[in-house]
Amino acid sequence: MYKPPRNIETNQLGINPNLDKVVKKYLNSESKKPFSSHTLTATTAIKEWLGDWQGDLIFDSCCGVGESTALIAQAHPEAKVIGIDKSAARINKHSSYAANSTNYFIVRADLNDLWRLAVLEGWQLKKHFLLYPNPYPKSSQLQSRWYASSALPDILKLGGLLEVRSNWQLYIEEFALALQLAQIKAEVRQYTAVEPMTPFERKYWASGQSSWQLNAKIK
Ligand SMILES: C[S@@+](CC[C@H](N)C(=O)[O-])C[C@H]1O[C@@H](n2cnc3c(N)ncnc32)[C@H](O)[C@@H]1O
Repeated sequence: MYKPPRNIETNQLGINPNLDKVVKKYLNSESKKPFSSHTLTATTAIKEWLGDWQGDLIFDSCCGVGESTALIAQAHPEAKVIGIDKSAARINKHSSYAANSTNYFIVRADLNDLWRLAVLEGWQLKKHFLLYPNPYPKSSQLQSRWYASSALPDILKLGGLLEVRSNWQLYIEEFALALQLAQIKAEVRQYTAVEPMTPFERKYWASGQSSWQLNAKIK
């Protein structure tokens, strides 16, 4: 039987009191962790696919089954779009969501490594989508959220127009505050559209939940 997703369950009812401290720590540090071999392989595959491409580059990070990646590619025929997710199970379902476009590529990788490697490659993004990243809603999970993790400096270095969506308003508000600590202004609003862009978005809306969106010009 289909069970609609429940609303976010969290013991964190306002902005996390440690947000400021944690974000400042990561803004002033650099990850030295060794790269996973599967993400090094994924980066090589992306480089081969890009060839000598000099045009616009768009990331759809945490793309899941890649439904959004295909839609973004169709909406941006002038760009090359890369969908990235660590779940082989999700990526392997992409054929059910595929578009008849050759300007996108879906790859399995851990974004903690892939964003760092992309920075080392010197890639600069035109747009960066992060649609419904895992919210890690427990207060103690703050440092698992992208904006309060060692990945934040890499997200900033990759640049572009950042678009983040969540069904948890606080996630989006905390993301905006983290960006503010990096001197970046973000717009936060409730997001609605006629058609959902991703399976999670579809599920949330079908169960009566709202989406929240952050837009920020990183560079
Ligand atoms: C809630 S799902 C959203 C998927 C899709 N964007 C959607 O809206 O249907 C979050 C996705 O983030 C991916 N993810 C979480 N941590 C990741 C990481 N470190 N690297 C790459 N993908 C990650 C998960 O595998 C999952 O597919």
